Amino acid sequence: MAKRRTFLYGAAGALGAGAFSWLAAQQDGCTAQQMHESEQELAAIRNRSFDDDDERDSLGDRATAKGLLYGAAVMSNKLSSDADFAACVARECNILVAENDLKWKALRPAPDQFDFSRGDRLLDFTQCHDMQFRGHTLVWHNGLPDWFENTVTDDNAEQFLQTHIQTVVSHYAGKLHSWDVVNEAILPEHGRRNGLRRTPWLELLGESYIDIAFETAAQADPDAMLVYNDYGIDYDTSQEERKRTAVLELLSRLKSRGVPIHALGLQAHLRGDLTHFNPDKLRSFIQDAANMGLKVLVTELDVSDRYLPRDIDTRDRQVAEVYEAYLTAALAEPSVIAVLTWGLSDRYTWLSRFQPRSDGGSVRPLPLDEQLQRKRAWRAIAATITHRLNP
Ligand code: G3I
Repeated sequence: MAKRRTFLYGAAGALGAGAFSWLAAQQDGCTAQQMHESEQELAAIRNRSFDDDDERDSLGDRATAKGLLYGAAVMSNKLSSDADFAACVARECNILVAENDLKWKALRPAPDQFDFSRGDRLLDFTQCHDMQFRGHTLVWHNGLPDWFENTVTDDNAEQFLQTHIQTVVSHYAGKLHSWDVVNEAILPEHGRRNGLRRTPWLELLGESYIDIAFETAAQADPDAMLVYNDYGIDYDTSQEERKRTAVLELLSRLKSRGVPIHALGLQAHLRGDLTHFNPDKLRSFIQDAANMGLKVLVTELDVSDRYLPRDIDTRDRQVAEVYEAYLTAALAEPSVIAVLTWGLSDRYTWLSRFQPRSDGGSVRPLPLDEQLQRKRAWRAIAATITHRLNP
């Protein structure tokens, strides 16, 4: 069994600018200046002894035992405002990814400014709790600041791209496990050459924006794993098959041009109501990426219950089955090194805003429910990690 971390939480405030409202104790290598009033309560949550022996080890502990990473996407403001949630994140995860805090919109208040405060808070949290940290994302058509459209032009686009990546990746150099360098560059439905998505960067720089992004990131942090990340490549449909083909062709072109790319990220935003999953297709896709020398990360896993029946038990079962089927297939591939869910608790999930249920019920796509209790989805993830054969 992996070691149980023994950090304690504190209500900070005294740390100065940019500090979180939590602190970790000195035994974790962090400066404890003021312990949280309800420290015992929080420790109880984190160290709660689960009745069932099968639930003693957290997802992160189980992943560690298998040489894997398990983690979740989080926002710094949720960690600082919700100590119970932060305790669960610290208990369950051995890697975090920034859900929004490292996007251009968060980092670039103005064309000549960088604001690392939120990203730095997340980094502090991961360092205090002995976790790895992933960066998301350096290049995306979404999450751009309002000033972007009227500021970035054909003449200055390459400079903007390089300056952004150089500055951001250097800021975190040596401290991050990996970066989603380019996110969602493929969308065959746009009808562009090579299945490329029509994005501001493609319009401004052509496909070379992808090469520039990876090359600049590699120069700024030679140790970070550099990832191409995409969604809609999980199911056995003709649409997703076209997209898988286009992604593999892109990866192959990048490799043949000597572009420094190290891994493929499968976002895996899944749906509880779909039946088109074919484990062999997924495994074969992962193998194709691995045969190019790439590692594979499941980067944004969640299972939407939007179209599932209202009954919670039925919903939770179906969601858990989807987690189990997907992870059983993915984790059978030795190239898969990490599983991250896009959020940890139903309390905070993008799906409640972007894909709400028509019956008004709360969505339940993640391992913990809104009360931070482990659900069937948690048990499905735990079981698939535990049963993974050591590569
Ligand atoms: O920051 C404002 C806040 O001040 C305001 O109160 C609140 C309510 O209107 O909106 C807040 O910003 C929103 C932010 O999420 C935080 O909730 C943005 O409007 C909203 O656009 C943003 O959505 C994020 C989305 O990416 C776009 O950046 C989601 O949280 C995030 O989960 C989602 O993540 C993406 C991945 O980056 C890429 N893959 C798909 C995935 C899901 O769409």
